[in-house]
Amino acid sequence: DFSLNLEELTKMTIELPEQIKSAIAAEPGIFLDLASTVLGIPLDLLLIADKTHSLAPDFVPPDLVDLSDYPIVTGRNGLLLREIVMPDLLAMNEAAKNDSITLVFSSTYRSYDYQKGVYERAVAREGKEQADRESAQPGKSQHQLGTTIDFGSITDEFGDTPAGRWLAEHAWEYGFSLSYPEGYESVTGYRHEIWHYRYISRPAARMEHEFFDSVQYYLLVFLADHLEHLRGAYTTGNDNST
Ligand code: DAL
Ligand code: ZN
Repeated sequence: DFSLNLEELTKMTIELPEQIKSAIAAEPGIFLDLASTVLGIPLDLLLIADKTHSLAPDFVPPDLVDLSDYPIVTGRNGLLLREIVMPDLLAMNEAAKNDSITLVFSSTYRSYDYQKGVYERAVAREGKEQADRESAQPGKSQHQLGTTIDFGSITDEFGDTPAGRWLAEHAWEYGFSLSYPEGYESVTGYRHEIWHYRYISRPAARMEHEFFDSVQYYLLVFLADHLEHLRGAYTTGNDNST
């Protein structure tokens, strides 16, 4: 339960697109129930890394593990992700397998310096203007968070493969979210990347799916701005001493 009236909740949503605002206004109780589950997730899963929010060069996630130690298919050796991602990742991989789908993990954690190389090669290949639509400058890539995965071919065609279609339908159920959906380049800063998913936890991905039009950017900005307010207004089983 939240000690929050509808007016306060409405005020929090004021900067969101109309469609999202009305979805929340239509079901405030369900929205707040979901919000209470999001309060429990580690905040670093919600960090923003984009063209206006940079990670420090020495930002390295504390719990990186090597994917070759897990029963999953990788595109190459040496791929790392945060351990906190692995239980839901393995569950998703298993569910895909049960649907006769093979998920191929192609690119995962990238250090600041590695991303620097990726970005500089993209600029050399296609010029800065085009590179900036599809490759993050060092410090600005979600891959540095250690929670982000590029699947399969890392091309537009991936969307028309069984794995691409399966992820589009089911990834959110396991806490994964498509970072750069089609039609939102002016919002996210990047062109549609049908292969690039970020783990944000199951509760957050459910909230994104049910209330934020499956647009990760809007969810993360909303939570960055209002999660602490929501936490303060949360009453059940909470002594409010923090
Ligand atoms: N391709 C995405 C934007 C990245 O470089 O992180
Ligand atoms: Zn990517």
